[in-house]
Amino acid sequence: MPRMAMDLVFRHALVLDGSGAPGFEADVGVEGDRIATVGEAPPGRREVDARGLVLCPGFVDTHSHDDGAFLRHPGMEFKVAQGVTTDVSGNCGFSTVPNEPGRAYMPGDISGPGAGWTDLESYFSACMAKRPAINNLMLVGHNRVRAHVLGMERRAPAAEELAAMRGHVARAMAQGAAGLSTGLIYEPGRYARTEEVIALAREAASYGGLYVTHMRNEADRLLDAVDEAVTVAREASVGLHISHHKAAGRRNWGRVAESLAKADAAHRAGTSVTLDVYPYTAGSGPMWQYVNLDAIDREWAECVMIASCPDRREFEGRMVPDIAAGEGWTVEEAVQRILTAPRGKEVICIQFIIDEGDIETNLRHPRTFIGSDGIPVLKGNPHPRLFGTMPRVLARYVRERGVLTLEEAIRKMTSAPCERFGLVKRGLVREGWFADLVLFDPATVEDLATYEQPKREPRGIQMVIVNGQVAFEDGRHTGAGSGRMLRYRREA
Ligand code: ZN
Ligand code: CU
Repeated sequence: MPRMAMDLVFRHALVLDGSGAPGFEADVGVEGDRIATVGEAPPGRREVDARGLVLCPGFVDTHSHDDGAFLRHPGMEFKVAQGVTTDVSGNCGFSTVPNEPGRAYMPGDISGPGAGWTDLESYFSACMAKRPAINNLMLVGHNRVRAHVLGMERRAPAAEELAAMRGHVARAMAQGAAGLSTGLIYEPGRYARTEEVIALAREAASYGGLYVTHMRNEADRLLDAVDEAVTVAREASVGLHISHHKAAGRRNWGRVAESLAKADAAHRAGTSVTLDVYPYTAGSGPMWQYVNLDAIDREWAECVMIASCPDRREFEGRMVPDIAAGEGWTVEEAVQRILTAPRGKEVICIQFIIDEGDIETNLRHPRTFIGSDGIPVLKGNPHPRLFGTMPRVLARYVRERGVLTLEEAIRKMTSAPCERFGLVKRGLVREGWFADLVLFDPATVEDLATYEQPKREPRGIQMVIVNGQVAFEDGRHTGAGSGRMLRYRREA
């Protein structure tokens, strides 16, 4: 039966459909916001010769901190250029909801400053008014919920305070959040006992949502922290997702094998467990959150680079020992002075604390996804993961090291996270599914962002389609603004 011309047709693409199955050559037609045909396609109003290129579903960044970036940088260039079409935001317990307009919740809040919204629904409206380039799915953050009700208090909530916190989690879930996130190493989340977290995770469970956690410890007490995370998930009857899985600090390197074994045991026992990982040996976050000023850890400080420092821009991109030597300070003194300067709590640091072998162990595990954990503070020298994560997996770990196959890497970036995070009809190249697509050259795709030059966009990503519209093409951002706010397990 002859069909009318389609909006966009890719000819002779090597289709990796996101399922992990081997690629096949096909034409793929897009009509409106959906994939209309896979196989043969009628003429397109626009035709793209995709010979020699891979066409696959758009990538999902399962660990982002882009809540505020959707408002400040709606073009989301640092994600689009990597082929990311959907972000999961609100991680590590930091989310933009609930929000009281004008209130400053905590210093160095990586979810970004709040403006006029109060809840997820009104935050989504504010984002859509900016015409964002990519899709956004949200988690509701424990640190934020706790700060909203208790401020930065270092105590357990009273019964009515806990009830109020539960109400905020339930409201966000009702409005489409995918789950509750925690950041139990951070203030104020670290003052929560396990029971508090269980009570809040139960609210996520009642919507079939997830418990997503930056665990209480990722270093010497990593295995205890996995036990706590599993306990929360089991007691609340909720799926567990462990964020940026790692074993931090040289003496713990190699131990991700043990924590994965624990996660697998829990999974077999009935608590579903997934994880995410970023492909870098350094982490990054608000520096004050990692430091006890009365007992500065010298070994840690020696592994730290300054990413963003509003008081001393000249420190950005430099290691703390180098800064100390230049200023005539000890390493401890440097940390002290950087953090106690007027805007010290806004300082973002990069910490080289992860083992390369552990990254590969994580990537080989069947239930890990890829999450950048990028912090979208573009002033200064952000961690290169903000711009480079997805292409780095494809270049370094697939093409160069053969740690995983291309099909498997794509599955981890597409269908697997879409299924886990309730992204309906996304993550596979299938007729009737949303046209979030990436066209790339598997021979040349590569991250170019480095610790020295962190804001370089990757090469080899030819075209990115978001809900049927071209968002990126030949190195150019189109400004189509076709991203949407996605709600857990709802088709939109
Ligand atoms: Zn985190
Ligand atoms: Cu994070």
